[in-house]
Amino acid sequence: MTDSQLNLVLLGAPGAGKGTQAERIAATFGLPHISTGEILRAAVAAGTPLGAQAQQHMQTGGLVPDEVVVGIIRERLAEPDAARGFLLDGFPRTLQQAAALDDMLAASNRALTHVIVLDVPPAELIERLSGRRTCRQCGKGYHIKFDPPKQPGICDACGGELYQRADDNEETVRNRLVVYGEQTEPLIDYYARKDLVSTISGGGRMPDDVWGDVKRVLAGAE
Ligand code: AP5
Repeated sequence: MTDSQLNLVLLGAPGAGKGTQAERIAATFGLPHISTGEILRAAVAAGTPLGAQAQQHMQTGGLVPDEVVVGIIRERLAEPDAARGFLLDGFPRTLQQAAALDDMLAASNRALTHVIVLDVPPAELIERLSGRRTCRQCGKGYHIKFDPPKQPGICDACGGELYQRADDNEETVRNRLVVYGEQTEPLIDYYARKDLVSTISGGGRMPDDVWGDVKRVLAGAE
């Protein structure tokens, strides 16, 4: 591991802006953006056995079993593009996943360098998720109010069709927030004890303002 290598985890509740900031971090720092949510949604769309197993958990807002997502990340972090740094978005999500990540990084003589927590109040999260739209073709994210595409329903970047995620309905969102509080929020303390955490307030601030803070945290790694 070189001194400037970034091995980064983005933590935050559903809708906190992990995917939004991850796009910018990955482009600016040349890191592979590894999102377990995206990997699982692609498996569901492709109708693979993994997708069939994940779908039942995702549609209620619950978590896919630890051993399944740990296996996905173990394979992905072994790929050559992750050897010079990586950005994890949506993983780890439980203390068991965090411990498994520590073990797999230690086994390849790596360690996390940063854990960035995006902190947004729950009422704002619900508004963000209900207005989120995603490009079916390239995956770029939008918000109908906060970050609208130039033409409604059409991706600015590739012209693809924008869609609303199946788990962004109100009932599922509420459950996702409960699951976050119970199973994922304890990771903030876990990583704070390792002195890795930088918390950025994302509430009531536009993505560019949040991005300014993210860049300050990662200053020097560009
Ligand atoms: P996943 O895809 O990881 O979803 P999530 O964590 O719930 O996060 P989101 O993608 O919903 O939100 P985000 O923080 O990326 O926000 P975004 O940038 O899009 O996981 C989905 C499911 O997969 C889970 O429920 C689970 O079932 C399963 N899963 C995934 N990983 C797993 C794991 N490790 N273990 C077990 N199961 C797993 O922003 C949201 C909206 O707000 C957008 O419209 C955006 O444009 C807008 N926005 C962003 N920033 C701002 C801002 N500053 N101001 C205003 N609007 C903003």
